[in-house]
Amino acid sequence: MHSLPTDTIESLRRRLQSRPLHYGPLALPTRYLLSPLAGYTNLPFRRIVRSLGGVGLGTTDLVNARGLMAGGEKTHHLIESCPEDRPFAVQIFGSEPAVMRDAAQFLEGRGVDSIDINMGCPVARITAIGAGASMMCQPNQTMTLVRTVVESVRVPVTVKMRLGWDDTQLTAPQFAREFEQLGVAAVAIHGRTREQGFSGVVNRDGIRQVVEAVSRIPVIGNGDIRTVADGIGMLHETGCHGISMGRGALANPWIFRQFQEWEETGSFTPAGTFNDRMILLRRQFGYLVERHGEQPAIPMFRKMAHWYAKAMLVPAPLRNLLNQAPTPAAFEDALAQIEAHGPARGDRTGILPDLYIPVPSGPNERW
Ligand SMILES: Cc1cc2nc3c(=O)[nH]c(=O)nc-3n(C[C@H](O)[C@H](O)[C@H](O)COP(=O)(O)O)c2cc1C
Repeated sequence: MHSLPTDTIESLRRRLQSRPLHYGPLALPTRYLLSPLAGYTNLPFRRIVRSLGGVGLGTTDLVNARGLMAGGEKTHHLIESCPEDRPFAVQIFGSEPAVMRDAAQFLEGRGVDSIDINMGCPVARITAIGAGASMMCQPNQTMTLVRTVVESVRVPVTVKMRLGWDDTQLTAPQFAREFEQLGVAAVAIHGRTREQGFSGVVNRDGIRQVVEAVSRIPVIGNGDIRTVADGIGMLHETGCHGISMGRGALANPWIFRQFQEWEETGSFTPAGTFNDRMILLRRQFGYLVERHGEQPAIPMFRKMAHWYAKAMLVPAPLRNLLNQAPTPAAFEDALAQIEAHGPARGDRTGILPDLYIPVPSGPNERW
């Protein structure tokens, strides 16, 4: 399963079992967290991964603190939750301490379990207003902002950041140490710099330096975890206390359950079959239909349908039929054809080939 010696893996597993993950007073059910993916990790998707088990915490897509306070309808959709979506965090971004404080207090009033400050977003439209990853370039303002948010609420406040702006400024360890002093409950580190975007590999040594920089708070390691073996490598090499998965969860929504099984028993069950994925696809689409109606749900679901179909090894012409379906009837017809055809390789009820499923990445402008 992994190139590490078995006894190394076993001692890692025992160490993890003896140290459950906490964000301040909030005990998380597992250390396997869903990373925010704007446009994907909405409530319907979070309900799907929750139903499969193993998720320690779900986080919303990043939410504009100013937009939230202005009462924008789209922004308010982003913070919707439901009883099975717990514990959950809302991730906010902004550069004005007072607005971030108001947003945090508003969210606390709505019952969110934790508030995450986005300090990692490399998208120009967000860094241009002094938010997201550009906060790593303005340490004084950043400390003021984070302190203001931490002091304004009782729920745990966390920060998600990259290793630094670029290779010459790997400032995450220093930030993490100072955040700990301010009362931040945990930090999550995507092991790349802002300049790197999504290119190259995750720098686990950089994440380890963040782990070593703090004394009490948990550090969540993030980036490129697609399999249980990847996660074991991250936990082992960095000493981090938890891990978060974004794109890996799109390709394999069972990944959280697999990690939990591995931590509890040392082995884990395979990801779902073609038929299992078809059920999830329909269920997730159904959640959107319940909330928004059938016709509006179709374009809203397109991006997700694409990744479901890829993971199900649906041949390209049928994937295109699904992606381009203009009406509910055409969508249903495409699904019926996909069901009738089955996967391009393997069968409907067997373990699908362990494919490297391409997942969204791209230039900084698009995350
Ligand atoms: C399409 C897309 C949207 C993302 N949206 C967010 C976001 O809203 N907030 C955030 O902190 N990170 C966001 N990220 C970064 C992810 O949370 C994560 O840090 C990164 O993808 C690396 O982890 P992964 O390899 O497990 O996906 C996004 C990444 C992608 C690819």
